[in-house]
Amino acid sequence: MQRLLTGLQPSGALHIGNYFGALKPFADMYNTYESYLMVVDYHALTTTRDPKELKANIFNAVRDYLSVGVDPSKAVIFQQSQVQEHTELAWIFECLVTVPFLELAHAYKDKVAKGLEANAGLFNYPMLMAADILLYDTNVVPVGQDQKQHVEYAREAAAKFNNVYGETFKEPRELIQESVAVVPGTDGKKMSKSYGNTIPLFGTKDEIAKAVMSIVTDSSGEKPKNVYTIHKLLKSKSALGFIYEASMGNYKTLKEALIEDLDALIAPMRAKRESITDDDIRRILKEGSDRARVVASVKMATVRKRIGVAL
Ligand code: TYM
Repeated sequence: MQRLLTGLQPSGALHIGNYFGALKPFADMYNTYESYLMVVDYHALTTTRDPKELKANIFNAVRDYLSVGVDPSKAVIFQQSQVQEHTELAWIFECLVTVPFLELAHAYKDKVAKGLEANAGLFNYPMLMAADILLYDTNVVPVGQDQKQHVEYAREAAAKFNNVYGETFKEPRELIQESVAVVPGTDGKKMSKSYGNTIPLFGTKDEIAKAVMSIVTDSSGEKPKNVYTIHKLLKSKSALGFIYEASMGNYKTLKEALIEDLDALIAPMRAKRESITDDDIRRILKEGSDRARVVASVKMATVRKRIGVAL
């Protein structure tokens, strides 16, 4: 069976970009793979220093995974920091790649350009992500467009290691669905926590309404492009054609229609979310991390032998 794996950073509330770009594609297909869904808490450490906030975000991320319908008996849901092989393998990859190679990472450059601290963790980020993916002989990685280069880095890390030490790692491929590759935010740019342009996945209806009403609508045509692009994630072109025809130029009505459609999607998931306790999450993460560790430790035993540290 092929392996499917993805991860999301617990660095704040998930937004609909995370949902449509990664979580939904994962939830739609994980049943036909051997599947792994991570909370990448050590990646979040590159930008978060508040322990209380990180802890709350870890619980919330898992709550979100379960609420969108991922069944923990069918996918291994786990916490990156609880499988120490990830950081161990990342170090080994860091010793194989060069600084100029890592300097090419768009995500790093973008984050630093936005004013984030250029800490060494942020710089080495792609090698920890490579370890996340390669430890599990992953075949397919469902992600949004912004992670394409990171999966390429994972392929490069695999190829470098295999070249130096012999065939050990499988080269994974990203799965990016074109229609949701870049979900735009309320300002038309890529939806991103750090741009402050998000529509929260599990916001209250009021929070969703506030975000939707703030969507920038200075498009020249009669159809507000930024509203329509998000709406297209929820309804077919023909259904939208009717709504946008009937309310042509009436941005307020069109935004209200989008709020209703978003809420219709989110309300049942929100209800499910309420029923999940912290103890459920602790149990799921413990079981998942134990299962992931079994796979990761077998791979690391091979790696340690290959590089010459297993005596
Ligand atoms: P993160 O936490 O930034 O985002 C999680 C997922 O959401 C996708 N995404 C989007 N997709 C479409 N439109 C958007 N506006 C949008 N914003 C975010 C991201 O592409 C991502 O798939 N480095 C990863 C986490 C990670 C990972 C991994 C992923 C660490 N290890 C191993 C896969 C496999 C990240 O920062 O995602």
